[in-house]
Amino acid sequence: MKHNLKLLMGIDRNSQFSTRVIILSLPSALLFSALTLLGLLSPLTSFVCYIIIIVFNMFSLFPISYELQTLRKYIYSLANEMDNNDAMPQLSEKDAQELAAAVNSVHRFWISKTDTLEAQTVSDAAILDTLPDPILMLDGEGNITGGNLAARQFLGTDVANQRIDALFSTNIFIAAVEKILKGKSETESLVFYMSGKYNRRVYAHINKLPWFSKGRAVAVVSLYDISKALSVEKMQSDFVANASHELRTPLSVISGFIDTLQTSAKDDADARDMFLKIMREQADYMSALIEDLLSLSRLEMAQDKPLKDKVDLAEVIDDVVQSLKIKAFNRSLNVKMIEENRIPKIVGDNHEIHQIVQNLVDNAIKYAVENSEISITMKTVPSIPSGSGLNVADGKAVSIAVNNKGPKIEKADLARLTEKFYRMQIHKDMKIKGTGLGLTIAKQIVMHHHGNLTVNSTTHGGTTFTVYLPIKQN
Ligand SMILES: Nc1ncnc2c1ncn2[C@@H]1O[C@H](COP(=O)(O)OP(=O)(O)OP(=O)(O)O)[C@@H](O)[C@H]1O
Ligand SMILES: [Mg+2]
Repeated sequence: MKHNLKLLMGIDRNSQFSTRVIILSLPSALLFSALTLLGLLSPLTSFVCYIIIIVFNMFSLFPISYELQTLRKYIYSLANEMDNNDAMPQLSEKDAQELAAAVNSVHRFWISKTDTLEAQTVSDAAILDTLPDPILMLDGEGNITGGNLAARQFLGTDVANQRIDALFSTNIFIAAVEKILKGKSETESLVFYMSGKYNRRVYAHINKLPWFSKGRAVAVVSLYDISKALSVEKMQSDFVANASHELRTPLSVISGFIDTLQTSAKDDADARDMFLKIMREQADYMSALIEDLLSLSRLEMAQDKPLKDKVDLAEVIDDVVQSLKIKAFNRSLNVKMIEENRIPKIVGDNHEIHQIVQNLVDNAIKYAVENSEISITMKTVPSIPSGSGLNVADGKAVSIAVNNKGPKIEKADLARLTEKFYRMQIHKDMKIKGTGLGLTIAKQIVMHHHGNLTVNSTTHGGTTFTVYLPIKQN
């Protein structure tokens, strides 16, 4: 009966409805019992009146209890789903209506706060992702709570699920992180080596965040990969060491001969002539080397210099061939120029393009087998082949291929020909003069023009250096 009544009224088991009805009816029960004991009311009348009061209480308490219960269910549904769109229940009791309105306004306030926070978090994460260096967030226990895109690319996508001391094994770095997490320091900076698969020298900056709460980021680690900068520094110091070495060699030859001329060969006219000839050669070599070094350093400094000459390549090649005619004649070489199609003028730097052609044709004459033919072929091509580390221009270009006959250059040598001071052993042994900077200079000029320089060598076809230069600079 009681169960049926509850179902009928829609009041659930957890409700204190029946307790409230009983408590409210208790004073009447006491009153009716007293009146019955005093003989003022018959037990039956007392009982009937008591039942009437209970029913009355039930009906007056039912609406508020029912609406409070409806309201409770509504609040739970709001709490469980922030974006709950359930309509607010229809309530008739004034108190319940006001309570519902208050709950709704609190809910709307939190929704707007959450939206703002979410938007803020998304935009903060997007900003962090644009930063080029890895950034990691740490909680108070040393767990990585997040990382930006650069960190995920550098350390792996699952970086956020790891402990900092599991990811980095370098003691000095972990000690610095601990110092921050234990509040012993606000900021730490250090350079350390990441061994294993990373193999990087890293500059780390660890900062304590200005707030501290459990489960939140309390420190930020920024990492800067300084390996590249260090290798550039090493390249520069290697270059200085190489240049000094290259200059010291002829200098010591010259000073050795000066000593000899001042002492043992003082009165030997034949020896003097021979020594002076060698000294002249060494001095020429030194000035060529200094000229090339200066040229290279000028080119490296002028990579942004605007290109505005209209260069007639056929004219440049003709000039170079004329200037090297005697050199070619001395080695019985026939230099042939082939213009496969009409070549338009190109936008570039006249002097620099002259330098490339000069270097390539000079090499062809120096390294060709005697009594052979050198060909210089010019043609327009639809595009420049791309090369590693090169920023080549789009669109039509002109190619100049310089071919000479000679032994095939092996792959290992081919890859190194444009390195500063690199010369093949066979040519050093043959005492062919050169600084090993000509192709480095040519490569630098090609880069300035957003072109490309390729080399191909076969046993029968000889060696071909091809330079690609864009017709227009974009
Ligand atoms: N056409 C070629 N055929 C064969 N080997 C070549 C050719 N061009 C260059 N090389 C090799 O590449 C090396 C580097 O050439 P590069 O022009 O840079 O220097 P170089 O000719 O030795 O000196 P420089 O050009 O400064 O007088 C040469 O020493 C030579 O060993
Ligand atoms: Mg050369």
